Amino acid sequence: MPRAIHRTVLVRLFLVWLLLSVSGGALVYRLQTERLDRRVVKLALDESSALTAACAEHARRPDARSVTELRRRSEETLRAQFVVVDLYDADRKPLLAVIRPGDDPITRTARDRVRELPLGSQPRHRRFYSGGRLLLEIMAPLSDERGAPLGYFRAIYQVRPETQKSIEEDVFGALALLVAALLAAAVALYPVIILLNRGLARSAAELLEGNLELMDVLGVAIAERDADTNAHNYRVTLYAVRLGEVLGLDPESVRTLIVGAFLHDVGKIGIPDAVLLKPSALTEEEIKIMHGHVMKGVDIIARSTWLKDARRVVEFHHEKFDGSGYPKGAKGAEIPLVARIFAVADVFDALASRRPYKNPMGLDEVLRLMTAERGTHFDPEVLDAFVPLVPALYREIACAGEDVPEAMVKSLVRRRFALE
Ligand SMILES: [Fe+2]
Repeated sequence: MPRAIHRTVLVRLFLVWLLLSVSGGALVYRLQTERLDRRVVKLALDESSALTAACAEHARRPDARSVTELRRRSEETLRAQFVVVDLYDADRKPLLAVIRPGDDPITRTARDRVRELPLGSQPRHRRFYSGGRLLLEIMAPLSDERGAPLGYFRAIYQVRPETQKSIEEDVFGALALLVAALLAAAVALYPVIILLNRGLARSAAELLEGNLELMDVLGVAIAERDADTNAHNYRVTLYAVRLGEVLGLDPESVRTLIVGAFLHDVGKIGIPDAVLLKPSALTEEEIKIMHGHVMKGVDIIARSTWLKDARRVVEFHHEKFDGSGYPKGAKGAEIPLVARIFAVADVFDALASRRPYKNPMGLDEVLRLMTAERGTHFDPEVLDAFVPLVPALYREIACAGEDVPEAMVKSLVRRRFALE
């Protein structure tokens, strides 16, 4: 199995683990902090319960003595971890405010913030940190045992360091547990995914092998009809791919070029022998029939999803850069780049190789003829990129026996279609 699969699975599992850790972590953090808020608010309200009785007394008899008692109870409450305590009567008029002595940053912050929570019939709270210490703004209505309103209590509660530590340990403990559980799940899934993927990769490779064999079979069938050997298909594929690589084609376009080069003349299967194999010059009518091989080829490959991209080569392989080609007279950039590349490779091989009816041309003669058609038949940029490649390609491919290009193409196909 290619190493890339292991890397892909690892990367994807890592991303899933990261995503779940972040989203699950956020959820756990939220749930834990809500639990913490409930715990702290209850703690704070329990510690302030003595105020309710004093408020009730003041509501019954609002005199100096009850105010003194209220202040005493408020100061007691303050000592129980409160920084600021504000009391209001049932009409929301301020009764008294007590603040922890000192001018430390927490006290200053608390003094500024205590009035931010509006008075209302439901308890409210808000959590914040100051100087690394956890504080809670609290607002709670005070009611007697029958539920009648006595006043309002608004305060800032400073969570004890040991409580804060335990709360934070709970939150981070739950987060660590979640992250570890997700990591364990990812580690356990890894071999399972690799195993499943191995089966899928094997099936995909078999399917691809089948498609490539079909491409080869079609190429051979065309060559048989055309009284030629399949060597032209192999050579032209090698030239076209080498030229495409020099021009910086992306891997997908190179694969299109391989299939298109192999099947460029597949439509010749549908041309009658009397025209296709006629030894003498074709009449005008016969030329028209012969030109029909392009669209017949397009119809044939359109029946296969796997071959459909090759249309860019098959449909345009007889078009010329100046618009004088067939079947559409497309010109310039209207002709796909892969077809412009293929046209150069095809003509080069036709001129440089032996055919039943002609001897191969010399290299200089081939180059002279092709250069004369720079900008008319051929895309100038493509031809300019091809000319420097010609001597090496000629030695390596054109002069080699028929078996050599075939072996080279088979190796190229395996590499380019990731079969090895
Ligand atoms: Fe053709």
